[in-house]
Amino acid sequence: MTDVDVQLTHRYLAACAIAREAGRLIRLRFEQRGDALTLKFKGPQDYLTETDAEVERLIAARLAESFPDDDFFGEEGGGSFGRDVWIVDPIDGTADFARGVPYFCVSIAFVRDGRTEVGVLYDPMHDELFAAQRGGGATLNGASLKVSPITDIREAVVELGWSSRVPFEGYAAVHARLHALGAGVKRRGSGALGIANVAMGRQDAYCELHINAWDAAAAVLLVEEAGGWASDFLTPECLQHGNRVIVCTPALREQLERAMDL
Ligand code: IPD
Repeated sequence: MTDVDVQLTHRYLAACAIAREAGRLIRLRFEQRGDALTLKFKGPQDYLTETDAEVERLIAARLAESFPDDDFFGEEGGGSFGRDVWIVDPIDGTADFARGVPYFCVSIAFVRDGRTEVGVLYDPMHDELFAAQRGGGATLNGASLKVSPITDIREAVVELGWSSRVPFEGYAAVHARLHALGAGVKRRGSGALGIANVAMGRQDAYCELHINAWDAAAAVLLVEEAGGWASDFLTPECLQHGNRVIVCTPALREQLERAMDL
């Protein structure tokens, strides 16, 4: 093993442990909330919970203890981007978390020189740890992941994400095209888990016209490492402003790129 491999493996193992610790805190807060419904918003359809900030602080502190020279960028508190940066979404699927629906995860990516080297997601309600290190494959709770063998879009399940950051007309147009091609189109509430579900063959594609780096960077690596195809997501602009994302089984690529081309 070279020094670089050792450094990256150290970060991979740390990300797995920190994601599990963060997940335990998220689950505790989810269970503590009981039936109390206090909803706060950052903007229309954009939920804010105190747990997001609390979990992000925990992850930032743990990473700073182990890797004091790395930069950190989190959905809630922002941060800075250097050669080595951690990109973190403390809770992806915040709307479901806030409404008491057990479908969310913590997402941690380590990016070196603009390339995701480590991607880890943890779904604390189902105890599922998705993890990938570039070149080392992708796993779910230690078992290897592989995208589905689906080649015919008429047999495919395609998740199409949407947020209030993009006009609804674009989403509606893509949805109509996918429907016309015969795809089974779905939308759930966590882009990160939606992409991870492609890596493990629970669905065949995930597309969204705009998603932020903290939501998708870790999960896209899972799909690449599980033999899927992914659009060029983590461009330099994406780190700060987000990007379009398409991940799928290799055979669906052309049809999905056309359907997403507005
Ligand atoms: C959102 C979710 C959603 C996706 C949005 C994201 P959040 O992230 O991943 O599924 O469609 O683009 O903003 O707000 O739950 O962290």
